[in-house]
Parts: sequence; structure tokens; C-alpha cells
Amino acid sequence: MGNAQVPVIAIDGPSASGKGTVASRVAAALGFHYLESGALYRLVALAGGEAPERVAAGMDVEFFNQDILLNKHYVTDKLRSEAIGNRASEIAKLPAVRAALLERQRGFRRRPGLVADGRDMGTVVFPDAVLKVFLTASVATRAQRRHKQLNDKGNHATLAALSSALEERDKRDAARAVAPLKPAVDAVSVDSSELAIDEVVDLVLKMYRERMSR
Ligand code: C5P
Repeated sequence: MGNAQVPVIAIDGPSASGKGTVASRVAAALGFHYLESGALYRLVALAGGEAPERVAAGMDVEFFNQDILLNKHYVTDKLRSEAIGNRASEIAKLPAVRAALLERQRGFRRRPGLVADGRDMGTVVFPDAVLKVFLTASVATRAQRRHKQLNDKGNHATLAALSSALEERDKRDAARAVAPLKPAVDAVSVDSSELAIDEVVDLVLKMYRERMSR
């Protein structure tokens, strides 16, 4: 079976829309591989250096269960900070960085299938995905979710500060010239503001099964 026959479910959306949790649970339910593409941009930001496109091409990355290793070092917790998220969004504007990460992302497409989350999974990286979901939620909901996540880790950013940082990052991601944050023309938009994570997971699984039975 060629790579192109391996089914992909693309889940895109703004930051803190819940796409990571939904994507990893959908992947677990189906026994599929999971690609958190945002982690790659975060890794380039964390690695630093003068030439991010060279870092993007050359970095040694391993995803190991829930952990992420950069050049053999565990960096999982460091990657999750808002500062790294914002730096990642700056770096993600650079076409050379995006180009350097493209094939690496496509390399995750392996049998029996892949669930990939990010900003351009459905538009650029996997345009032939069998199901494309654009997951949104109100800014207030997303800020609250991120606030809770950070608080659980002992990081006490204020809700107001988080909310404006999220909005700023989404604006930058949506405004960039290359692979901006936007739904693919054939994406299904799902607003998760009023839904529990389990409900979104079930909805995505149901849509996927419907597509596959056609
Ligand atoms: O998804 P996450 O918030 O971890 O992504 C961090 C940043 O990486 C985003 O704000 C975005 O600028 C960038 N990104 C991207 N394309 C993707 C995934 C993430 O540009 N597919």
C-alpha cells in the first residue's frame, strides 16, 4: 500500500481550541499514529539559533509516548510554555521553515492511519485527508481552558493576559502569507465552546466512519 492510501484525519484550528486532546484521543480510538505539528514549530523555537530553517531541517526529534525529545533531551514541559508558543508563531511565518518541516510531517503518514493536528494540515500538508475538521471555540472558552491547563502545572498567568496573547497569536497565524490558519474549503467546522471533549471525539469518529463506509 502506497503512502497516499494511508487515511489521514486533519484537525486544524486556533490555539487552545482543544484540537490536541481531540486528535490524540481519536488516534488512540482508531489505533492510528498521531502528529502534533505545532510541537515541531515549538521545537524550532526552543532550539533557537540564527538560522531557524537550518534548525528545522537538521533537528533530531523523537516522539516517545507522551514525551518529546530534542537532540536526545526531554523537552516536553519546556515546549508547552506560552512564551515558546508565541516564538513558534513568529518562526512559523517563515516560508523556509515551513518548507523544511513539510516532508518531516508527511513522514508521519504510516499504516494504519494518521490523525494530525495544527493549522495547515488540511490545506497544505495533507490536502487529500479523508476528513478535515476545523475546530474552533470562543476566545473566552479557549482562554479558560489554557488557564486551567497552566494552573494545573503551577503556572499562574492571568485570564486577561492569556486571552489577549491567544488573540494576538491567532491573528498573526491567520494573517501570514504562507499557510495561514483557515479552514480548508472541504473542512467541517466544529465549534467546541459548548461541547465536552468526549462529545467532540465521538463526533469526529462518527464522521470518519461515515466517510469510510461510503
Ligand atoms: O499548535 P500550537 O499552539 O502548539 O502551535 C504553536 C504555533 O506553531 C502556532 O501558533 C502556529 O504559529 C505554528 N503552527 C503552524 N502550523 C502548524 C502548527 C503550528 O504554523 N501546522
